Amino acid sequence: MFEFQDNHLCLKQGNRSIKLKDIAQQETNPFYLYDLDGMRDWYKLFKNSIPPQAGIFYAMKANNNFQVLKAFQEEGAGLDVVSGGEIALAKKMGFSPDKVIFSGVGKSKEEITMALQWGLLQINVESLEELKAIHLIAKSLNLTASIALRVNPNVDIESHPYIRTGRVDHKFGIDETQIPQILDFIKQNRNTLYLQGLSQHIGSQIFDLKSVLKAAQNLKSLYKNLLQEGFALKTLDLGGGLGVDYHTFGPDKDTLLLKKYGEMLKELFTDFSSHVLVEPGRFLTARFGMLCTRVEYVKKTPHKNFAIVNSGMHHFLRPALYQAIHQIFPLQINSKKETYDVVGTICETGDIFGKNITLPTLKAGDWLVLADTGAYGYVMSNNYNLQVPVKEIPFSKGTRLDSPSILSMVYEAKESHQNN
Ligand code: LLP
Repeated sequence: MFEFQDNHLCLKQGNRSIKLKDIAQQETNPFYLYDLDGMRDWYKLFKNSIPPQAGIFYAMKANNNFQVLKAFQEEGAGLDVVSGGEIALAKKMGFSPDKVIFSGVGKSKEEITMALQWGLLQINVESLEELKAIHLIAKSLNLTASIALRVNPNVDIESHPYIRTGRVDHKFGIDETQIPQILDFIKQNRNTLYLQGLSQHIGSQIFDLKSVLKAAQNLKSLYKNLLQEGFALKTLDLGGGLGVDYHTFGPDKDTLLLKKYGEMLKELFTDFSSHVLVEPGRFLTARFGMLCTRVEYVKKTPHKNFAIVNSGMHHFLRPALYQAIHQIFPLQINSKKETYDVVGTICETGDIFGKNITLPTLKAGDWLVLADTGAYGYVMSNNYNLQVPVKEIPFSKGTRLDSPSILSMVYEAKESHQNN
């Protein structure tokens, strides 16, 4: 975990404590620092908090670093994947196909083919149109596709509009009124389509569990009705979405939310013997990543102090895209304080990491960190302005690990799929 000790920001792993200052000293360019041991411990706590029949399918879109995936794999996690690239990587890394769910609203024919050939646990279907495509591909491959229906429960959550997914005016999931038609299609095509489950995902950054409970209760009663209708269902997938309060530092709030979530699921599923699947992404990784960046210039004007850093929205998009507030820390606290807008290097006014942040008096070369950036950080980075990619540095047991390029692994895996 990350914590301040004697005014220094440190990475604590077991009884080892490493000053971030010492890690940063060897770097000049920005980097994401990951605490793999923290992720593992947190994963174990998550697993122990949910009912025994619930399985974790980590939403790898949140952080697909090789070492992060390997750590979760070793802990026994499954995966929720949303693209051919993610399928290829899961396969290449040796995840067992029966531990992989394929979600996503626009699956291509090629991706569906990959999923069916690999034989993964289930494809979460988003529409009749997609179901028809799966049917045709399964027929041509002479296979039966294991599918789940992603239902749109028409519930809303309090979150940023871009990361809510559960209302009828969102592109996700099957509208309740269209379910009978979908079921008819499945009944007519039992050779190619096996309906094994139901699923939902109502959005991200959820703190109030009422909506999750409401949607889950509806899904559970639909599940029971379908069992009675003769569908041999096996899985009920609740999606991800648990929130991380970026205004606070440390796990206290998360621990409380996890406890409530676990208790809610235990109560809801006492009388339920099928598999419950959950797909957390952010909640498993966010707190265990820090984006470290160096101050390039301190620019003082009559109106403002700007700390211009050698990173920006191309490395961490959440503040610019969702107006997200992530805390900004120095590596060492001292008593001299000033207020800065911490801004990136990209030619966009919105490239702001934080406004009016009180920090120790800064000079060029000082390092700052954006806290809790282990989810939707590196994975959403890009090369806008032809900036160089940001690095990832995973740590375990106080030691720095390699971080092989995920993209080259994906290309290799996709090529080998096409050649087979
Ligand atoms: N399952 C499905 C089907 C999803 O679409 C997602 C996330 C998850 C699980 C995992 O959700 P989580 O537990 O991480 O909230 N870039 C945004 C978040 C987009 C989430 C997309 N879907 C952000 O930085 O807030």
